This record gives sequence, structure tokens and C-alpha cells, in this order.
Amino acid sequence: MSATTDAIAHLADLGDSASLGVRLPDGRDALLVRVHGRVSAFENRCPHQGVPLEAEPDRFLEAGGELIQCAMHGALFLPEGGECVFGPCQGEHLRQISVSVDEGGGIHLAGE
Ligand code: FES
Repeated sequence: MSATTDAIAHLADLGDSASLGVRLPDGRDALLVRVHGRVSAFENRCPHQGVPLEAEPDRFLEAGGELIQCAMHGALFLPEGGECVFGPCQGEHLRQISVSVDEGGGIHLAGE
């Protein structure tokens, strides 16, 4: 990672809902979540039917704030690794995107 790489988002963007939808530089739609202080990112595409997960903008976590939820049929995914632990695609995974957070709170694609 380079500190000069543009951030895709900032920790401050992960507000009360602790989740955020972003468009990556390559055009993919992604989601960012912060659970127990750890930021993770995934492509915004449910492995069940290939649709975006959110029903409302930037709302990707279930009410407890611990699991990622697909609004379409209620699948629940672990924020570590993206495994579906409940729902029609149980055992499948969201596609994870490696990110890192710099000292200033900027969230960057890892490997850049
Ligand atoms: S499309 Fe996500 S659970 Fe069915």
C-alpha cells in the first residue's frame, strides 16, 4: 500500500450504521463494514442471486450490528471472511476485498 493512494472511504464515513456502500475505481460496487473496530470490505453482490445486498443506502448490517445481511432473503454473513451462516446461500461467501486503514483513518485497497 502507498500512503499516497487515494482512499476509497474514511473511517468517519462509517457512521452510526457502521456500514457504507462505495464504488471502487474499477467500477465494482462494494460494501464496507466496521464490526468490533475492524473494517472489512466485500463486493456488493449476494452469492444467492447476485443482487446488491442493501434495501436502503449504506445499510448492510443486521439490527445487532454484528453480521452482514442481505435484504432480499435475509442471508447473514460473517464480517470476517464473508461466509454465509444463515439463509439460502449458507456456506457460500461474499467476495472479500482486502483493505487497510492508514493513520489518518483513510481506507485503502490493499496492495496499492
Ligand atoms: S439474494 Fe441475497 S439472500 Fe437471496
